[in-house]
Amino acid sequence: MKRPRVLSGVQPTGKMHVGNYLGALKNFVELQNSGKYECFFMIADYHSITEDYDPETKPQQIIDLALDFLALGLDPKKSIIFLQSQVPQHLELAWIFSTLTPVSELVRMTQYKDKAARQEKNINAGLFTYPVLQAVDILIYRPQFVPVGQDQLQHLELANDIAKKFNRRFGETFQAIKPLLTPAARVMGLLDPAKKMSKSEPEGCLFLTDEPEELAKKLKKAVTDTAPTGPEKTPGVANLFDLLDHFGTKDHIERFHQLYKNRTIKYAELKGLLADRVADHFAEFRQRRKALAGKPETIKQILAAGSNAAKKIAIRTLAEVKQKIGLAL
Ligand code: ADP
Ligand code: TRP
Repeated sequence: MKRPRVLSGVQPTGKMHVGNYLGALKNFVELQNSGKYECFFMIADYHSITEDYDPETKPQQIIDLALDFLALGLDPKKSIIFLQSQVPQHLELAWIFSTLTPVSELVRMTQYKDKAARQEKNINAGLFTYPVLQAVDILIYRPQFVPVGQDQLQHLELANDIAKKFNRRFGETFQAIKPLLTPAARVMGLLDPAKKMSKSEPEGCLFLTDEPEELAKKLKKAVTDTAPTGPEKTPGVANLFDLLDHFGTKDHIERFHQLYKNRTIKYAELKGLLADRVADHFAEFRQRRKALAGKPETIKQILAAGSNAAKKIAIRTLAEVKQKIGLAL
């Protein structure tokens, strides 16, 4: 029996944080290690150049993301780990898909609207057609499942629409994909818990590479309340409890909920415990990442091998598509 296929992608745009981890990467590792799926994990470098960036730092951002993938446990022996730009077939199919995508659908995309508002001086066509390329990233490998955060659902719907349209016009070719959502909701910023934890607010953001002292320092500054306000936690306190749910033991969780209920909780104690737990959770990660960082050539080889494997499949899908749309002589 062939295992169902899973595919996802991440843009190489900076350091990975606890939000990215709980929202996406943790799920990738679990899916891979369950042994139930054939997994593809892609570094979406072509997507990442739709945002303002520095060509000097991009190669390191790509290597950094590969290091994060590998140090977290994604394993090139179990999964195909590849670099989008090393499989140029994505771009050929993106052109074909763009001819099936109504502009009116692209205009509706929330991520496009958000990013366009953020980078008013650089509203480029790539930012606009970004979801078309994402549809290709997925459909070209014909996976059944795509693990993503909530914010990506609209893009997956578009991919399904494109697949349906293609099938109707040129014959059954692509099957529908299903999102796999992580139960982890949104991790909020430590200093401004009204906003999601993000690398754009580094002071309130726990990076996976942060050393224990750094984690403790940031958690110490996390906003809470002066005293428990009642059964409804303030957003800052609720966020710390969410982190406790993920990184604490059952005993820790029960104890701090009880202390909150009794209104005898000391937030300094909760923050100290969280700092220790998060530091411990990523201790092995930090070590593995440092060891791998000294071997950039190995990382490049892993990506090249993964991209080669991915390319074989991409070439086949593209050939079938060109045949069906009448461009294969
Ligand atoms: P950032 O805001 O730090 O730039 P990205 O927008 O690059 O993060 O997010 C990459 C992926 O990680 C997204 O698809 C999203 O689902 C997930 N993610 C990012 N921040 C969080 C968060 N605070 N909580 C949960 N998931 C997140
Ligand atoms: N757009 C995704 C993000 O911002 C990254 C991505 C690119 C992706 N191609 C993909 C995700 C294919 C899933 C499948 O997080």
